[in-house]
Amino acid sequence: MFGIVQLMCGIFGYVGNKKNAAQVIHEGLKRLEYRGYDSWGIATKVKSQKSKVKTTKEKNGFVVEKHVGKIGNRKLGSKLLKSDANLGIGHTRWATHGGVTIANAHPHLDCKNGIAVVHNGIIENFLELKEQPIKKGHVFVSKTDTEVVPHLIEENLTHPHPNPLSKGGGEGRFTGAVRDAFNKLKGLNAIVVVCSSSQEIIAAKTGSPLIVGTSDREFFVASDVSGIIKYTRKVIFLEDNQMAVLGKNLRLLELPWGKEIKPKYNILEWKFEEAEKGKFEHFLLKEIYEQPRVIENIALNYEGEAKKLAKLIEKAFGTFMLGCGTASYAALFGIYLFSRIAKKHINFSIGSEFNYLENYLTSKSLVIPISQSGETIDVVEPVEKAKEKGAKIAAIVNVLGSTLYRQADYKILLGAGVEKAVIGTKSFIAMISVLLLTAYAYIGGEDLGKKLLLKTAINVEDILKDSFIAKIKKLAQELKNKEHIYVIGRGLSYAAALEATLKIKETSYVHAEGFAGGELKHGVIALIEKNTPCIVMASNDETYDDIVSNAQEIKARGGLMIGIGPKDNEVFDRFIETEDLKEATIIPQIVISQLVSYNLAIIRGIKDPDKPRNLAKSVTVK
Ligand code: AGP
Repeated sequence: MFGIVQLMCGIFGYVGNKKNAAQVIHEGLKRLEYRGYDSWGIATKVKSQKSKVKTTKEKNGFVVEKHVGKIGNRKLGSKLLKSDANLGIGHTRWATHGGVTIANAHPHLDCKNGIAVVHNGIIENFLELKEQPIKKGHVFVSKTDTEVVPHLIEENLTHPHPNPLSKGGGEGRFTGAVRDAFNKLKGLNAIVVVCSSSQEIIAAKTGSPLIVGTSDREFFVASDVSGIIKYTRKVIFLEDNQMAVLGKNLRLLELPWGKEIKPKYNILEWKFEEAEKGKFEHFLLKEIYEQPRVIENIALNYEGEAKKLAKLIEKAFGTFMLGCGTASYAALFGIYLFSRIAKKHINFSIGSEFNYLENYLTSKSLVIPISQSGETIDVVEPVEKAKEKGAKIAAIVNVLGSTLYRQADYKILLGAGVEKAVIGTKSFIAMISVLLLTAYAYIGGEDLGKKLLLKTAINVEDILKDSFIAKIKKLAQELKNKEHIYVIGRGLSYAAALEATLKIKETSYVHAEGFAGGELKHGVIALIEKNTPCIVMASNDETYDDIVSNAQEIKARGGLMIGIGPKDNEVFDRFIETEDLKEATIIPQIVISQLVSYNLAIIRGIKDPDKPRNLAKSVTVK
């Protein structure tokens, strides 16, 4: 029987001089909720034992609250609110195996309710680790892998294991107990632990992301920066096999033995306001409207990065671009770009498949992983293997300090700012803008690339004008009750067709399929019936005539043809015009598809397009 594993969750911890730790944690979890929203929970340490305590949990110092479902606007219960605690932990979960229940929600406690743990990752050997505690009479109340941790710590506190490295046991019983328990865990894990007998919180990680933030005599721990950016921009990105002990001060320890190491602080560039919705109803819409600035920023400020990456590609003996989901379409776009602009062959792979393709990598190979979060395990793992083969890694990511960012020899930070909607928009546009500028830099045409991107930013600005949005809303209304939507494109616009399809699916839950224009007649055209909508990404380039004849083949079978591009054609029943931006035409084509998807979701009554069902922002599951 396999227990539930927690792989893509948001964890948060606080210790400091504020007396409302519960509210601080609640706020932090809300900002991390895009990492998983099946259930959530908080545990705070009750300050005073005397007067208020009632239940055993409280007797032992914790007030715990757990709920199934999203946090949304749910308020904290009175017990947590009144707990006037200055220390606590919280968790928002994305279930992978088994049901979504209160018992499986975090935090998990030990038998005496004196140790509380939140966890993100997989404890691959949890069944084995449970055997001893069970033999000794420990009672497990959940089906999770995580629950073994508080019981291991409980055991260690009862029977401490002396640490040969810490002279005279200066390490502290709680720290030693957590260190010893964490060392036993196999897999990618991050934990945050509190104990009723200590005024400290302890965070440890191997694999799953953890960040420690500090400001005036208080400490925050979170799975990513958006959880703590409201309180501080001074952070430490915990490396693998590191443990942070936070209380009156911060101690950073190296695992397994707990040797003290000097913390390396980073100052985050992102500002708190960026992580807020502002005037927008949803982060998705806000982030779509930020795209002209994102494109402009890359056009004006990324010449250096583009030239450096172009040099690396030139020197490499075999370059491989990889990503997952939306990022994989950026990589796919990249190989067409380099073929067209730089006459340079680049290989493409979906991240999860690259594991099975990288046998031919050498120390002369260049691997370019592309990822918004920088944490997608299907990219992180093959990159780790590529590094073992001596390949050079040039990562294009949006999150400073993420695993891919730290794995890479050369790093390009996309500068798209915090992306909170689970659905990637501005990060994708930033990815393809960087690749376009790099392809131009490869032929010494960076000025041309810059001009094209600046022109594109203006066109996207125009598309975001109300008059244009009205056309898009009209189309979304027409597609409201459609069960199937097909999207076709050729060449550079093939990646646009795939990305548009993914946006429609994950935003509006309408079944959509994207194809290379020439593929339809090899099978799927059988699905076309009267008024089956088909979006045609028609760029004014060498693909135009062929994609128009593909559109005619579909129209002949009753398809409703929707053209998106710079040049209208009588085959289109509906046409949404973009500027003719050569290789960058894909950008307005994608922005229009994002807006159609968003409006389709709203028209179809989807309450929270920022958090689509069954998805999470960074996928750390294989
Ligand atoms: C994007 O809208 C999707 N949510 C998803 O496909 C995403 O692109 C994919 O999980 C890769 O994420 P990354 O860019 O953070 O690696």
